[in-house]
Amino acid sequence: MTTVSLRGEDRALHVAWPDGTSAEFPYLWLRDNCPSGFHPQTQERLFDLTGIPLDISILTAAVNDNQIVLTWDEIDHVSRFDVDWLFSHRPGVGLADPASIAPSLWRGDLPPGELPRATSARLMSSDDALLEFLIETKKTGLAIVDGMADDKDAGMTMARRIGFLRETNFGTTFEVMSKPNPNNLAYTSHALPLHTDLSNQELPPGFQFLHCLANKAQGGSSTFCDGFAIAADLENQDPEAFALLSKTPVPFRFQDEDHDIRRHHTVIDLDAFGELQELHFNAHLAGIFDLPAGKMEAYYRAYRKIMQMTRSDTYVMTTRLAGGEMVIFDNRRVLHGRAAFDPNTGFRHLRGCYVDRGEFDSRIRVLSRKKV
Ligand code: OGA
Ligand code: ZN
Repeated sequence: MTTVSLRGEDRALHVAWPDGTSAEFPYLWLRDNCPSGFHPQTQERLFDLTGIPLDISILTAAVNDNQIVLTWDEIDHVSRFDVDWLFSHRPGVGLADPASIAPSLWRGDLPPGELPRATSARLMSSDDALLEFLIETKKTGLAIVDGMADDKDAGMTMARRIGFLRETNFGTTFEVMSKPNPNNLAYTSHALPLHTDLSNQELPPGFQFLHCLANKAQGGSSTFCDGFAIAADLENQDPEAFALLSKTPVPFRFQDEDHDIRRHHTVIDLDAFGELQELHFNAHLAGIFDLPAGKMEAYYRAYRKIMQMTRSDTYVMTTRLAGGEMVIFDNRRVLHGRAAFDPNTGFRHLRGCYVDRGEFDSRIRVLSRKKV
């Protein structure tokens, strides 16, 4: 049986559930989250916190059916909380999130054949298959779709099934092929060392989709590495380098005739909880380092160290995309690159687009909703 008791001195409601779990709910939290303060349709909060005093208090608390009923010292206000709702929102624990999926780190010994893989037709037609694939893709940060139609728009159509596309200065979609007057090294036949795209942006795009329409030229195989695995190993092996790379902002810049987009970032970025959030690693977009001269050499040592890790077989996976395959990867975690190719020996054409992490996670949550 669920029991409740008031803890006057802690200004909190103490709730004990039948499974032995108990939690404290501060009065202010309860009043701020009273169900009556939310719009019934949009579920957005209408309640105005400034309309109550900080020392608001409860007069009575009782359990009635599956509800906890509270009366307040505020005139005429009664709150009714669903017991299960309170359980799932316990302070200090918070609401479970189907999109909160721990990364499963991988290194160069992961065979490309073990990557999450699904056929396009199945992902386009089955929500269950899509959900399972998105979850697996989020774990590894890298996956392959095969059986893609030989249609320039097929990659966008698949990406749009997940979320809306992120437009950048290269367009909503971009053609990766050797072109005259390139404004990006990707649009040449040069090798691309492992990198994250658009590190010069305030928020680099999240998931990248590269649909291989043709890969007939000699060379041009693809490389990937898990930046989170590199960062985790660096933290263990060389904490000083990790600290410098996660605390020192350095400039990134892209410029062409129409744009000049610049941003400072740390190479290793931690979130507000101290967890790895993303890597900004792109030697061809790195600007001219502007740290104080006395800090430069130590920083270069750390930067060169992570650069060496991105070249090491310990971390790098090599594969070759075939026409009809599309690779999907978290551009803020997994670094990608390619070997040089010879455009005189055959045609190579990838078409790319991006869906940001927020939209990707939202699709996981909405598809999970249907399952319960
Ligand atoms: C890119 C890129 C890889 C490739 O377009 O950003 O890295 O295989 N392309 O051409
Ligand atoms: Zn790239």
